[in-house]
Amino acid sequence: MISFKDIGLVNTRDMLKKAATGGYAVPAYNFNNMEQLQAIIQACVETRSPVILQVSSGARKYANQTLLRYMAQGAVAYARELGCEIPIALHLDHGDTFELCQNCIDMGFSSVMIDGSHHSYEQNIELTARVVEFAHRHDITVEGELGVLAGVEDEVSSETSSYTNPAEVEDFVKRTKVDSLAISIGTSHGANKFTLKQCKNNEKGVWVPPPLRFDILAEVEKRLKGFPIVLHGSSSVPEEEVKTINRYGGKLENAIGIPEDQLRKAAALSVSKINIDSDGRLAMTAAIRKVFSESPEEFDPRKYLGPARDSLKRLYMHKVNHVLGSAGKA
Ligand code: G3H
Ligand code: 13P
Ligand code: ZN
Repeated sequence: MISFKDIGLVNTRDMLKKAATGGYAVPAYNFNNMEQLQAIIQACVETRSPVILQVSSGARKYANQTLLRYMAQGAVAYARELGCEIPIALHLDHGDTFELCQNCIDMGFSSVMIDGSHHSYEQNIELTARVVEFAHRHDITVEGELGVLAGVEDEVSSETSSYTNPAEVEDFVKRTKVDSLAISIGTSHGANKFTLKQCKNNEKGVWVPPPLRFDILAEVEKRLKGFPIVLHGSSSVPEEEVKTINRYGGKLENAIGIPEDQLRKAAALSVSKINIDSDGRLAMTAAIRKVFSESPEEFDPRKYLGPARDSLKRLYMHKVNHVLGSAGKA
C-alpha cells in the first residue's frame, strides 16, 4: 500500500475545515491528462490556493490509474519546483463501490467520495459507513452524498434532481462519520444544466437559470455547524467559450451553467469544496477549435494543446480569485 503522505499529498480534513469557517471554497478540478494538470498546478501555485485534484472512474479508465497516481505525485514535485508548497489532495470523484474506494486508497489517494446517493437512505448509510471505517484507518478523508443531482454523474445519469432533505443530514453524518457532505440544492452536472423552460429570459435576452436553493443550504448549515459542504455540478458554462466553440464549427445548444455570483455566495457560507469539470472541457475545446480553424496547417499537438492549457490556466485562476475566494489560502 502506498501512503499519500509519502508522496507529499494531504487529505482534505484541514483544508475543508478552514474553508468552511473561512468564507471560501477549495477548488476541486477534474483531470485526465497532462495539460489539465499543468494548468491546475500553475494556476493554484500562482494564486497560492489549496487544490483538490479529482479523478473519476472514467478518468481512471481513460488515462490508467497508475499513471494518474504518478501524475499527482509529479504535481506535488512540480508545485515545489514552481516555488510554493500548496496543499494538494488526490480525490476519487463519484466512487460507486467499496472496492473502488479501497483500490484508490491502496494506490495513494488521500481522499475518496463514496456516492451512495442513488441508493435508498439506509443503503447509502451502510455503504458510506463501510468506506469511512476503512478509509479512516489510513487517515483518508471521505465525502458522502445526500440528494440526487440532475445530469450525468460519471456513468450514472439522472434526468431529474431530488433536493437534499435537511432533516436527514445530521443523522447521516453522525451514523456514517463522513468528513464532508455533497448536497443537492439545484446544481447539475454537464454543460446543459437547465432546460430553457426552467430559465427566465431577462431584459438583455440572457437566459437566467433558477437560483440555487439557499434555503436548503441554510437549513443544512443550521444542523451541521462548521461542517464542510460540497457542491458538485458547479460549472458556470462561460458564454464566451460556448460562442467560440460554435463559431469554429461546434454545436452546443442551450448550454447554461450556474451563475458565478451564486457560487460566490455559496462559498461564503458553508460550501467548502466546489467541483468544476465542464468549464475546463469547454475552455480546452474552444481553444483547440480556434487553432484548427485559423491554422489548419498545424499538426503538432503542442500547437493546439499549448493554447488550450493557457486558456485552462486563465479559467482556473479566475475561479480561485473571483468565484471561490481560495486565492492566498494555501
Ligand atoms: O461528475 C462527473 C465529472 O465531471 C467526471 O466526468 O466521468 O466523464 O470523467 P467523467
Ligand atoms: P460540472 O459538470 O458542473 O463541471 O461538475 C463537475 C462535478 O461535479 C464533478 O464531480
Ligand atoms: Zn460530481
